[in-house]
Formats: sequence, structure tokens, C-alpha cells
Amino acid sequence: MGFNNIRNFVIIAHIDHGKSTLADRFLEITGAVEKDKMQEQFLDSMDLEREKGITIKMHPVRLIYNKPQSQILNLKSQILQCNDSYILNLIDTPGHIDFTYEISRALACVEGALLLVDATQGIQAQTLFNLEQARKQNLKIIGAVNKIDMPYADVEQAVKELASILQVEEAEISLVSGKSGQNVEGLLQRMIKEVPAPKIEQDSCFKALIFDSKYDSFSGVVAFVRVFGGAIKTGDKIYLINQKREAIVKEVGYFFPKLTLVDALFAGEIGYIKTGIKEPVDVKVGETIIKVSDSGYLNEKPLIGYKEPQPVLYLSLYPSIADDFTLLKDALEKLKLNDPALSFQVETKMVLGRGVRIGFLGSLHAEIAMRRLKNEFGLDLIVSVPQTIFKVIDKKGKESIVSSPADWPDLSFIQEIQEPIARIEIVTPSAFLSRIFRILPDFDIILLETKNLTVAKTLLIAQAPLREIVTGSFYETIKSVSEGYGSFSFEQTGFQLADLVKIDILVAGEKQDPLAKIAPRKSAFFEARKLLQKLKGLLPPQQFAVALQAVVGGKVIARENLRSLRKDVLAPLYGGDITRKRKLLDIQKKGKKELKEKSRVNISAKVFFELFRS
Ligand code: GTP
Repeated sequence: MGFNNIRNFVIIAHIDHGKSTLADRFLEITGAVEKDKMQEQFLDSMDLEREKGITIKMHPVRLIYNKPQSQILNLKSQILQCNDSYILNLIDTPGHIDFTYEISRALACVEGALLLVDATQGIQAQTLFNLEQARKQNLKIIGAVNKIDMPYADVEQAVKELASILQVEEAEISLVSGKSGQNVEGLLQRMIKEVPAPKIEQDSCFKALIFDSKYDSFSGVVAFVRVFGGAIKTGDKIYLINQKREAIVKEVGYFFPKLTLVDALFAGEIGYIKTGIKEPVDVKVGETIIKVSDSGYLNEKPLIGYKEPQPVLYLSLYPSIADDFTLLKDALEKLKLNDPALSFQVETKMVLGRGVRIGFLGSLHAEIAMRRLKNEFGLDLIVSVPQTIFKVIDKKGKESIVSSPADWPDLSFIQEIQEPIARIEIVTPSAFLSRIFRILPDFDIILLETKNLTVAKTLLIAQAPLREIVTGSFYETIKSVSEGYGSFSFEQTGFQLADLVKIDILVAGEKQDPLAKIAPRKSAFFEARKLLQKLKGLLPPQQFAVALQAVVGGKVIARENLRSLRKDVLAPLYGGDITRKRKLLDIQKKGKKELKEKSRVNISAKVFFELFRS
């Protein structure tokens, strides 16, 4: 089968609009999964994905579709002339904004995108965001309204909205139900007809782009690739252009969706290469792999790779057992293969010893990465307060970026502190507009523009400090005032002047580095009190009374007391011998004093984790 019968495409949509369920039907129609082995959202194969009911990773799968002869398409009554088999390389993508890096990498490997919209929701913020990304890649974009079987679906409205943003006729929008399978085969045929066959470099030597990878303790790094030219097979010598590293191919294969060994991978295909490379840092997404041939390879140019994603949230991780630091670092290097949006560096400034400062694309991304470190690598971690970065400009005009409260500068040398700002796009049914306008000032949001997407739906373009969007309660608030229908996307755009202070937290007089936080001066008291109250609720009672204090610039701005656990030392006494009672109470008092002098409050990793769970 030549490359003319290959179709590479992604399914993109706002979160929960039904990508994985539609992919299930594609898997069934093409017989990729036997009926008795089929489970809902089959491609969401990670335990965490199944537990949370969301897609976290992109999932490639290779399907073979044998087109029945001259079948009539429902949509435009057109007839597919070809009777051949088609290879469909489908990539299911996540919908949550924290995982957009997964989508952008998938988009670079395909020629088509299926943009799905839930008929009960209409277009939402990620619909627009993902559409924009697909357009940048010049993909053939096909629109479909999903969940048409649902009783309260407003199919007509969803079609209007989708046709309007795609700038196509309403008749060009497919109507499907991923749940019931209605019209799904017609949509698959439409993808075959309208998505172009892969562009390949004719007569080129082997060239492939790494779009994802994972670590296998036996085979080393397994690179997921899109082949743009030539062919590769087991035993070939390969060269990673950017890393300047050679390796011998241990195996090549397809995603069926399990990794399945084949003889060779050819131009236009999507598959995997087991590289045998045991150093995860040597294999990066966006890397170009070529084959080493007699004619040499040094003049080969790399393919356009990927832009490094820009983290929006930073936190420190420390192993709860200090000796586990090397394990943590190894685990992160392996995890980064499968989650390349992670960026981290070693940090040694805190009393907890060596840890890592990690950048994430949002709080869900952070939570998932920490859960994966625990589940997949068995690590118990202490987590610091999540922060955005800051720009510090000293009196000589030198700029530096600070991502950790541990690096908070001496203010006497500082001329100015700036914080990141974000451009936000909020999509809401117009009925909730006035409620949304009312909450914007609570998050320091400045409205820049309002656009009617249709009569019933509005797009608000606004600007706000990034910290309000990624560390506060903005998400919950938007959801609550719009009764679940409002949504937003954002991107960091620059910096603005900010009046910030560092809040230190003291527990029993001892500074707790991971709890330190940088906050706006105007909300420092409120944030400090909230943190102390949460901490008070989480810490177990101690043998002595414990003061929890928040300090800014040497001044205590908030305080809570953790009451002591009072043991009834008089319980064994019967009768009223007052001197004996006093003696026992004195011993208890002295014991507590000594304990207080000697002891520290041990804050368990669980408490740190719970403290920052939103
Ligand atoms: P993320 O990847 O996490 O963004 O989600 P997704 O877009 O893959 O959505 P998913 O397939 O997980 O579906 C979300 C929910 O919608 C699930 O409860 C599905 O059962 C349901 N669902 C999906 N498609 C349909 C449909 O056509 N009809 C009905 N009634 N429910 C659907």
C-alpha cells in the first residue's frame, strides 16, 4: 500500500467534547479492537486517565479501513470512488489547557484535524485555541458536532457556531454521536476523502521527527516518530541531528494501538523506533532522526522541531527522605520523556537539602506530574507553594527572572519587580455576560475587547496578572457564575510592574521554606491567613501548643495557634491527694517544656501535598 492511501489526522476539541469516545467508534469500525476487549475511552490507557476520566497524553493509533464499494456519504451525498484499504494514523489529544503542548506536537505530524464540538455546549475556549493551532499548521480542518443523541443537545446552535468559526457553510458540518455511533462511519469516510495524503520528500534519505517518547528499562528510549522521507528498519544505524548522537535501531513498529513490531517504517507513516539509548536526556521531542549511510550525514538539516513550552507555574519538590534525591532526578528525566512540557533544575537553597524546581503548564499538569512520580516511581515528596515567575530589575538595570521565593532578592538593591501578565479569552453564553463582568475586578482582570461569536455566544478578550489565572480560584469562579458553560484559555504575553512581598511562614518559631510565598502587598494578609488556617486544619495535634505565624519583612502579619494535645496524667489517680496531683502536673509541664525546646514540628509530605491541592 503506497503513501497515497495513508491519512494522518488528529481529533481536537475542548475538554470532554467526546474525542476519546469518537475514537472508540473509529477503533470498532476498523476492527482495531475486538468487541469483547473494548472499554470506554479505550485510548486513555493510563491509570490516571481512567481514574480522572480525562485525556492527559496524546495517543497515536494506526487503523486499517477497508472501504465498502461505492458507499454513499450521508453528509453531502457524495460517493467515494475508491475501493482500496486505507491506513489511518489517528492521534487522540487531550482537551485540557494544561496539556496543549501535547496537541501542538501532534499537529506537526498530521495533515488533517477533526474539530469536534459538543452539541450541548457549543464552541468553548479550547475549541477556538485548538482551531488556531491547527490553522497555523495549515491542516485540513473538518468540523463535526458530537453528542447529537443527547436529549438537551442544541444541534442547530452548535452547527451555527462551528460553521461560523470555521467560515464554512452549515451543511459542511458533520453531525455525529460518538456514543451511539450515528454517522460515525460517514465521518471517517469524509476524513479519507478530504484529508490529503502525507507530503513526503521523494527520494530522500530517512528523516523522522520525534513527537513523543517513553522509557523502557529493556530497550531504553522508545521514540514515537512521524517519518517524512525514506525508510528505517531494525539494525540500521541512526543519528540524532541536534544531540549529535548515534544509535543502532533495536526495533521499529506501529501503534496498533499496542507497540507492534514491523519490518520497516516508511515515509508518511507514524510509528516507533526503539533506540536502545539509556540516557533519557539525549532524546528530546522535536529532534530529527536520520539514517547513517555510506554517503555520510553531516550535511543533513534538521526538520522544524517544537518550540519549548513556557511554564506558567513553578514549585519545588523535595524527597521526603533526603537520600532519595538521585531517585527523584532519575525519575524526572524519565518522566520528561513522556511529559516534555516539564522543565526542572536542581535547587539547594532550602533547609530540606537538595530538591528540584519544576515548571508546569498549570495546576492540573503539576498535580498529574506529582501523582505520576508517586505512582510510577514510588516517590514520596514534599511540595512547596506554587508560584509564577517574577522579573527583578536591580538598581544597575540588570534583569533576572526569579522562580522561587528562596531567591527573593534583598529589596534595598532592587529598582523594580515585575510579574507576568496573560491574555485571556473567555467564551460564554451571552446570558451570563453581566455576571462575568461583575467578577472580573476580583481577579484584577482588565477587559480589552468583546466579540459576538453568534447572537447567543460571546468572546471576551482580557488581560490579567498570570498568578490570578493559574494559582487562584478563577477557574471555579468562571464555572460557577456561568453555570458550567463559560470557559477560558490564556497565554503569557509579557510583564508588568507589581508591588509584591515575600511571606515567610514560621511553625513553632521555625521558618518553613517550602511554605514561603510571594504575593501582592495588598492581598498578603488575606493570603497568609488563608494559608495558616489551612495548615492548622491539616497539622496533627502536637504535645505542646504551636504558633503558626506569617511574617513579612520581619513583622508578623497573621497568626494561628495549634492547641496542645492534653494527656490526662491524673487519670490513674483515685481520691484527692492534692500534693500527688500537683507533682504529676509539674512533671508533665516540665516534660512539655523540654519537648518544646528539643523538638520540631514534623510536617509530613502528605500535609504539604494537601495544603496546595486546590
Ligand atoms: P478529554 O480528552 O479529557 O478532553 O475528553 P474527551 O473529549 O476525550 O471526551 P470523552 O470521550 O472522554 O467524553 C466525555 C464524556 O462525554 C464521557 O462521559 C462520554 O461518555 C460522553 N460522550 C462522549 N461522546 C458522547 C456522545 O456522542 N453522546 C453522549 N450522550 N455522550 C457522549
